[in-house]
Amino acid sequence: MTIPLEVHLDAETQESALRADVVAGLTDTPKWLPPKWFYDARGSELFERITELPEYYPTRAERTILAEHAGDIARITGARTLIELGSGYSTKTRLLLDALRPASFVPMDVSPTALEAAAAHLAVDFPDLPVHGIVGDITRHLGFLPAPAGRLVAFLGGTIGNFTPAERARFLTDVRAVLQPGEHLLLGTDLVKSPRMLVRAYDDASGVTAEFDKNVLRVLNHHLQADFDVDGFAHVALWDADHEWIEMRLRARWPMRVTIPAVDLVVEFASGEEIRTEISAKFRREGVAKELSEAGFTLDHWWTDPDGRFALSLARATPSR
Ligand code: AVJ
Repeated sequence: MTIPLEVHLDAETQESALRADVVAGLTDTPKWLPPKWFYDARGSELFERITELPEYYPTRAERTILAEHAGDIARITGARTLIELGSGYSTKTRLLLDALRPASFVPMDVSPTALEAAAAHLAVDFPDLPVHGIVGDITRHLGFLPAPAGRLVAFLGGTIGNFTPAERARFLTDVRAVLQPGEHLLLGTDLVKSPRMLVRAYDDASGVTAEFDKNVLRVLNHHLQADFDVDGFAHVALWDADHEWIEMRLRARWPMRVTIPAVDLVVEFASGEEIRTEISAKFRREGVAKELSEAGFTLDHWWTDPDGRFALSLARATPSR
């Protein structure tokens, strides 16, 4: 069975965006790479393995909240269309689909393989549900989302934590701009907690997160013919208490010179020099309410798991004055 996808990201656009990010990030001081490049087929699979690690609580915590409140979400929103941003394999979304029974489901993700797998699996459990997958970048392609009345936009998993505060403000404003007053946003956010528990979640004992982190170097080797010695880098996870975010970095174990032919770049690493590969911001209720309100949303419901590790916010597009 083939499931048609609406594609706004072709391979060439992706490769040129990757090249631009690599030049910007690896010529900067300190060096950085955006987290979205983790997710090729191998990276997406490694992330799925992360979600099953004993140390990585966010996925289980969010699933617990969804299981508890999917019925409330259906009743309160009465949404007929469920849109999911950064949907990946849409595993937790089933709980929402079960409760909502919407007229259509619109997942948007950068990964066509994840969207195809999600659509194929959903076709088995929800044979009558039209699934309209959109291959797109949620920071650039929200304007392509369909606009039937009564939408619920879900942005789960705490993925909003990958954005800086300025990027979050921009993103939430953009989501608000495509919605009508009264339509809803369901937002998953990981919460501030003990640094020990946070760091363990991003530096697991079995090393899956380390492999995930290093996968970005494999992506560069593969797509840009770079010659990173992947094992010459160590995975680092640290808690930045001022920003209240986890940072993942790759630290050069010894001095290195890396050649990246596709962008005509030679990058020097001093021993111990780091590349920042991801921020994963952690939140508090007041902060989420404030950011939502500044973007034109009203936070109507705030639900956490029993241990208070993770939160789901149900927000309503405030009528603009
Ligand atoms: C997919 C962005 C929600 O930040 O927790 C997991 C990615 N990175 N382990 C997160 C991730 C390292 C994850 N998000």
